Order: sequence, then C-alpha cells, then structure tokens
Amino acid sequence: MDELLESALIFLRQRCEEDVGIETIFGEVLDMELVRKGDFEARALPSLVTTTFSNLNLDKNQHPNTLPLFQNLIQHYDQLSWAQISPNYGGEAIAKGFSFASLVGTPLDGWRNPPFIAEDFAFGFTIQAPQLNYPPHEHEPIELYSILHGESFWQQANSEFEKKTAGDVILHHSFVPHATETKSDYLVTFYAWSGNLNFQPTMSPNS
Ligand SMILES: [Fe+2]
Repeated sequence: MDELLESALIFLRQRCEEDVGIETIFGEVLDMELVRKGDFEARALPSLVTTTFSNLNLDKNQHPNTLPLFQNLIQHYDQLSWAQISPNYGGEAIAKGFSFASLVGTPLDGWRNPPFIAEDFAFGFTIQAPQLNYPPHEHEPIELYSILHGESFWQQANSEFEKKTAGDVILHHSFVPHATETKSDYLVTFYAWSGNLNFQPTMSPNS
C-alpha cells in the first residue's frame, strides 16, 4: 500500500508541475505528512471491482503519464476499501455500476475508509461500468480526475460531452454540474478532492 501511495503522489506531483492551476489547488498535499491509519481494514470487494479488473484492456490504455500508477493500482487494488453509493443518491444503476476507493481521506470518514489520513484532501480511484450514464451532479470540493483506463465521455455545465481517454485530466470546480458516460469500456480513474470533504455531492436539478 505504501508503494501505491508513493506512486499516486508522484503522479499528482507531475500533474502539478505541468499545470499551475492544479498546483494551486492540490500542491499543498504533496508537502503534508500522510499518516497511515493503524486499524485500517479493507471491506470485502464489490463484484463490480473484481469484474472490472478482470476485463481491463491493457493494449488500448497505455499512456506514459498514467501507466506507472495504473500498473501499481492493478497490483494493489484488492487492498483498498471500495465503496458503493446508496441508490437514494442517484438511483439503482449508479449504485450498482459505480465504485470508488479512497487512498487518502479525512480521519472521521468511516464510509470512505481511507488507509491514509489528511485533513482537507482526498484522493483515490473510481470505477464505472460500461453503458452507464452518471448524470449531472455537483459538490463544493474541487475535483480532479485523470483517466487511467477506458474511453469515456465527460460533460460540465451545459457543454457538449467530450471524449476522454487514458492520460486525459479533467478539473471540476465548486458546484459546476458534471456528468460521465461510458460506452463499451470499463472506466478506471484517479480522483482527487480539495476542500470541505464532509460535503456530500447532490444530483443537479433537472438532471
Ligand atoms: Fe464529482
């Protein structure tokens, strides 16, 4: 797990070095001491997670920026605590087809259950099943995504959906509605949040 944290921090540092906007938002976490939670225990893996990792297309998803972190995740994904979202939030399809695992998060965050602790930052990984529309939703914390695997389609506010593939980086600012659609590929991403981590996302009106 230390190896995965190291790989994620190297990845985030590289993204900060190439984009001053990202550095301003996420740079601080690179200097923080991240404390490993002594009593961390991963919960049982959802079947979505095992299905995803056995259906990866490694030929199609090679990008020099993301490959080292992606390979590290493939080795260690089963040590993370993957969570699924209540159907009350966005319906049954999202509850079944989306999962995320925090590598770093807040101390009181039992549901996300991160193995490493930071006060105002969280980062980790998400999975989205094929043929799934994650409808527009929004939240206060600023969010970075980087695609590790899977062609996918991303929308912010009322813009057109844009195709994104391995290596692409997406930034969602506070309360800007955003949506993600998958087609035939499993989507695996690295995500990072900066801000009030107790803030719960909500579905956007009219979504
Ligand atoms: Fe989001």
